[in-house]
Amino acid sequence: MIIKSKIYYLDAVESTNDYLRSIVGEVPEGTVVVSDRQTMGKGRFGRTWFSPEGGLWMSSLLVSTQPQLMNLIGTVAICETMNSYDILLGIKWPNDIMLNGKKIGGVLVDPVDGKVILGLGLNLNIRDFPDDIELTSTSIYIELKKKFDKMMIFDLLCKEIDDLYGLYKLDRTQEILVKWRHYTVMLGRNVRIENAGRVITGRAIDISGDGGLVITFPDGKIERILDGSCSFQ
Ligand code: BTN
Repeated sequence: MIIKSKIYYLDAVESTNDYLRSIVGEVPEGTVVVSDRQTMGKGRFGRTWFSPEGGLWMSSLLVSTQPQLMNLIGTVAICETMNSYDILLGIKWPNDIMLNGKKIGGVLVDPVDGKVILGLGLNLNIRDFPDDIELTSTSIYIELKKKFDKMMIFDLLCKEIDDLYGLYKLDRTQEILVKWRHYTVMLGRNVRIENAGRVITGRAIDISGDGGLVITFPDGKIERILDGSCSFQ
């Protein structure tokens, strides 16, 4: 197993992604940082990520120049992990993990020198959220009234990342895409994507081999969008 070649267990840290970035030149591929809480957890687009005790906050170091594909691995790994407890989570492209229409987890990839820091957050045993995100965020505990052993989920999640990363290394990305299609809530939905100042609206029909969302337009044209902020229409 490559993932967990080295593990840092922390009580508190600003951000597991930033911590891993600060030691990236000194640690092997597969290094994992996990922390009980983050004091400045990061989301996409410079947003903060609510990271109290009770959630699972971790980052792992992968060797790849394809951050979007690593992002895909992260989202599928979270879904596969909870699926082993018969909990079906959904992937909202590119990086949101959803349950009952609310966000329950997320993935943040930080590329650095041909490597990728893959940050995963899962709202596991969190009992309540601040007012500003209460309507859009949830946790496994809130939805299912079930508490999970965080370290057990952590171990499983590392195993899932390892399996998917193994497929990627063997050029078996298609098998990762099959799993993504199983978990996604995107396909057939009308979407609006904002990407670098451009707004794209169309229907999501598939995922591409590099982790892009494939969109079809009313005139029949098809385009692959590699990144962006996505909402349903
Ligand atoms: C998002 O949905 O915007 C991405 C959220 C990613 C949160 C995780 S928690 C562990 C890792 N460290 C961070 O600071 N962020 C990611």
